[in-house]
Amino acid sequence: MKSTDAGYCLVLLIIMMLPGVGWALPWDKDMRNQPSVKPQEAQVYTNKSSVPTRGKEPFSAPEDISELVQARLKAGTLKNPVLKTGKSLNRGKMLYDIHCALCHGEQGQGDGLVGKKYIPDPMNLTLDYVQIQPDGQLFYTISHGSIAMPYYWDSIPVVDRWHVINYIKSVLGRKPE
Ligand code: HEC
Repeated sequence: MKSTDAGYCLVLLIIMMLPGVGWALPWDKDMRNQPSVKPQEAQVYTNKSSVPTRGKEPFSAPEDISELVQARLKAGTLKNPVLKTGKSLNRGKMLYDIHCALCHGEQGQGDGLVGKKYIPDPMNLTLDYVQIQPDGQLFYTISHGSIAMPYYWDSIPVVDRWHVINYIKSVLGRKPE
């Protein structure tokens, strides 16, 4: 090989390594672009008929608000399996402070710092509207979220969701004497 040939090869190689050219080459596919959910990205809904592969609850999003309300009402028949013991309320408080207080406020008044950015406002959890809901309906809201509220079905374990509900009902909902 002549030294000029080697020079051409080298220049060609350098050109191929330039980002603008390199992206187009098959071995340089951007691994970031794959079917996964990235941070801050909207949730990917599963089909109604799909089966969970890791033994979690099947999750399909309601199509509209009336479907959401129907699904929430239906969940009202779920029985809360966790007794409202002091231990449950303590755990509920710990979880509430981590996951909910930022939007719903420490006392549940819907006045958390992050919540102020939301339209509509986060619900005031001390209101009768929430307090008279069967525990199962609150379980649905925590699991699947609401209109603007995010869901927690994949980040708060089932039994912990009931602890949070116990805390909302027994502590936040307590009327001042
Ligand atoms: C990022 C903000 C945010 C977080 C975090 C959040 N919520 Fe909400 N939540 C909202 C907003 C906004 C609404 C009112 C609008 C809606 O229904 O989506 C709401 C509504 C609700 C409602 C009323 C639903 C109904 O029946 O209409 C309940 C109950 C509730 N949240 C409970 C919780 C609990 C429990 C947690 C913690 C596990 C939590 N939320 C975390 C923003 C949040």
